[in-house]
Amino acid sequence: MARTIRPMSYGGPEVLDLVEVPVPVPAADQVVVRVKAAGVNPVDWKLYSGSFHAIDDKYKDEAGVSADALPRIGLECAGIVTAVGEELSGVSVGEEVIVYPVTGAYADYVVAGAGSLVSKPNAVDWPVAGALMLTGTTAAHTLHAAAVQPGDLVLIHGGSGGVGLMAVQLAVDLGATVIATASEANHELLRRLGATPVAYGPGLIDRVRAAAPEGIDAALDLIGTEEALDTSLELVGNPDRIASIAGGPRRIEEGIKVIGNQPGADLGTEVRAAARPELIAKLVEGRLRVIIAGTYPLDEAAEAHRVGIGGHAPGKLILLP
Ligand SMILES: NC(=O)c1ccc[n+]([C@@H]2O[C@H](COP(=O)([O-])OP(=O)(O)OC[C@H]3O[C@@H](n4cnc5c(N)ncnc54)[C@H](OP(=O)(O)O)[C@@H]3O)[C@@H](O)[C@H]2O)c1
Repeated sequence: MARTIRPMSYGGPEVLDLVEVPVPVPAADQVVVRVKAAGVNPVDWKLYSGSFHAIDDKYKDEAGVSADALPRIGLECAGIVTAVGEELSGVSVGEEVIVYPVTGAYADYVVAGAGSLVSKPNAVDWPVAGALMLTGTTAAHTLHAAAVQPGDLVLIHGGSGGVGLMAVQLAVDLGATVIATASEANHELLRRLGATPVAYGPGLIDRVRAAAPEGIDAALDLIGTEEALDTSLELVGNPDRIASIAGGPRRIEEGIKVIGNQPGADLGTEVRAAARPELIAKLVEGRLRVIIAGTYPLDEAAEAHRVGIGGHAPGKLILLP
């Protein structure tokens, strides 16, 4: 038998339960992976919170939420291949892999298609490998969507978040100059990563203008607030140079680049797939770090979610089954 974390109803972290299930068997075109580390992301608690049902009815399918089936949680992990479907070649039992995208990664074992596997380099630790891809590919997609180029001055809203820390590092590595919003407590971290930090909240536009009197070329909204949207529209002007990963339908109406699994958004499947080997290469070369806020055993997934929902030290929360 194997363990998996499942929401038992819609609600808060208290609905998560550790359930015993049979060890999965792969279909002909799948592998089974023994999970060593699984990244925790806000979408995990959103999936069982019921909040996606607030989205207008016509968007329910695109949001991937069905009222009659509770979602399986955990969209990224890393582990060791334990079984390979008969039709698959090029992957073997014992191989260490990063698995993304996937569902149900809060578990001892996960089932995945070959297209979700990338080899894990020996130099990359399990927690880092398990928590790299969701935020990393999202950040890469965001920079691509806003057409960020070397020499650009980029404003990153939510620079100390999981996606934000990736976006700040990728933008700096690209040769952009970065101004990033965060709580005061996280400013020193952003400075160390090469960004100029500014506090979010009232007066944000003035603080950004003071930090960048020459103007802002592009903005990444990684938090979804009205403040982030309004500030970006005012300072960048051109909606094609503003990308957003969260927030309501006003973003579509304003014509900015809305990305990810949101109503009317660009999924960016190809851009995100292309980003996976680049993220690993940057990690191995020391040009990118996964900052870890905390690790938890599998049976403490609910506690990890409480910490995540409550606001936490910058970086990723990770489950170690
Ligand atoms: N569309 C997609 O493809 C996609 C992919 C991944 C994530 N997302 C969504 O993007 C959002 C961020 O994800 P994440 O993983 O980065 O979350 P996270 O790690 O929880 O980070 C959230 C960050 O937001 C900052 N923050 C809080 N209130 C803020 C405000 N009023 N203004 C500006 N920043 C504020 C916090 O900074 P301080 O701690 O410094 O206060 C925190 O670091 C979530 O809603 C998530 O579901 C979307």
